[in-house]
Amino acid sequence: MTSTVVRRVSELTTNDPQLGDGTPMGRLYDAALVIEHGRVAWVGPDRDAPAADEMLDAEDAAVIPGFVDSHTHLVFAGDRGDEFEARMNGVRYDAGGITRTVEATRAATRDELTRDARRRARQLRDGGVTTLEVKSGYELTVEGERRQLAVAGELTAERTWLGAHVVPAEFRHDRDAYVALVVGEMLDACAPLARWADVFCDRNAFSVDEARAILGAARAKGLGLRLHANQLAHGGAITLAVELDAASVDHLTYLEDQDLDLLAAASTVATLLPGADFCTRSPYAPARRLLDAGATVALATDCNPGSSYVTSMSFVIALAVREMFMSPDEALWSATRGGAKALRRNDVGHLGIGARADFVVLDAPRALHLAYRPGTNLARRVYQASLEVA
Ligand code: NIG
Ligand code: FE
Repeated sequence: MTSTVVRRVSELTTNDPQLGDGTPMGRLYDAALVIEHGRVAWVGPDRDAPAADEMLDAEDAAVIPGFVDSHTHLVFAGDRGDEFEARMNGVRYDAGGITRTVEATRAATRDELTRDARRRARQLRDGGVTTLEVKSGYELTVEGERRQLAVAGELTAERTWLGAHVVPAEFRHDRDAYVALVVGEMLDACAPLARWADVFCDRNAFSVDEARAILGAARAKGLGLRLHANQLAHGGAITLAVELDAASVDHLTYLEDQDLDLLAAASTVATLLPGADFCTRSPYAPARRLLDAGATVALATDCNPGSSYVTSMSFVIALAVREMFMSPDEALWSATRGGAKALRRNDVGHLGIGARADFVVLDAPRALHLAYRPGTNLARRVYQASLEVA
């Protein structure tokens, strides 16, 4: 067995309130941590650090848990830069471009999809992401959705089937037939390859009743549930998410007071995607109202070619702090432990004893620098369990 001690950590964020300063950030200064079997075995002051087989010198830099990006659409082909350009000239985002990505993705080979998804995953990891969720949703056929999940399977165990992204063009005049395909043959084919089911429940996508039917069928197949909700307009998706005890309800750009109360009382995590609000020039989701009401908030990139071609969690943190009025610590927690809760994971997103040793040595003395120095990749070294990946 090889043990590693990480020494000379100027600021260690564990996200374990039982460690360090007793805050939710579980913070220690001039600290060290020991890793055994890919798990955190000891955390404490550097002066008390035990001996280990190997030593990693953090050189007075901050260490944080690896980011948990709990919402991405990494498997796609094609480019929609022209839509971004049009938006910056005043055109409103309405999710209509999804069908263009569906067309391009269907036309791509599996090797092309894998190569490009890997590149995006690599960019995320280089920036400190050590746990990644990836959705399907850009082929919208039985075989295509399976193919997308198979590609996602080369990147992560956190795979989400999003067959109900939009109604594809060939079913435009018979949406009931598409929903029947989704809850029938497509679900049967995709469930073995996925851990989660998601539905885009919004204007121009699926109704609350359609989403209830699709998610109910998915749950019966053993899938966990998540929802895209209130990105384009206010609707009933949050009520549905809470009713179904979904792990997460994502976007939440348009929220009303009763939604806050529902989320505050639920175990469903409110996942905010400020990259999408930024890239679609939408209002920012009301993070402050959610936090003040007591909801659990996660932050994720939503990396996709239409609404958020973002592969940097530190950019997301900077937006959440500057534009959504989250404190730097709230944003860091939401990008790590919050993301883990959105995936119902307790082994990642923190560095408490027994956690997976997924961590990032920053090129900075404090984690605060993630928001303080936007636009810079501050991930100096990224460790995923015992494996150094960057
Ligand atoms: O999360 N909202 C739906 N799905 C994606 C956008 C997809 C696209 O525009 O291609 C999202 O923003
Ligand atoms: Fe999304």
